[in-house]
Amino acid sequence: MLIFKQQTLADSRKLAHRLAGFLSAGDLILLYGDLGAGKTTFTRDLVQELGADKNIIVNSPTFTVMQQYTGHGLAFPVYHFDAYRLEGIGAADQGFEDYIGTDGLTLVEWPEYMSDILPDHYLKITFTYAGDSRNIDFSASGSHYERILKAL
Ligand SMILES: Nc1ncnc2c1ncn2[C@@H]1O[C@H](COP(=O)(O)OP(=O)(O)O)[C@@H](O)[C@H]1O
Ligand SMILES: [Mg+2]
Repeated sequence: MLIFKQQTLADSRKLAHRLAGFLSAGDLILLYGDLGAGKTTFTRDLVQELGADKNIIVNSPTFTVMQQYTGHGLAFPVYHFDAYRLEGIGAADQGFEDYIGTDGLTLVEWPEYMSDILPDHYLKITFTYAGDSRNIDFSASGSHYERILKAL
């Protein structure tokens, strides 16, 4: 577990920058944290740090559950889930598996609501409030993600 305390917006952008250098297609990142904790902000920063141009729009896909970002300078697609709406329903039989561990990087907000289809290897990032800033914790499941964590 790697713990970064009291990260400002600028600090979390720097974390996204560092992480971006170690990511590749097929990777899965689970983003835990309450509403407003910084999950979408980090996703937006990460997409920028992966090389996307400024015209790309990254928001929580609250209603569509999944938003896909391609082109715009990205070397591989980014699949961005917000599973909040799946609470009590789950994610099975909706074709979402095609966007996890395949040709792109997958980021999941509210992963607890689609745990029925998530693989057991992932990088987990947890955001918690720390006054005006945030504590950001990284942990890994599986050797691939443990290597990323060590490199960070
Ligand atoms: N590290 C941070 N420090 C201070 N404010 C932050 C930080 N990360 C995000 N925020 C702010 O918190 C608000 C909610 O962020 P958002 O990423 O939409 O949260 P979530 O997706 O977890 O609901 C935004 O106004 C954002 O600018
Ligand atoms: Mg969000």
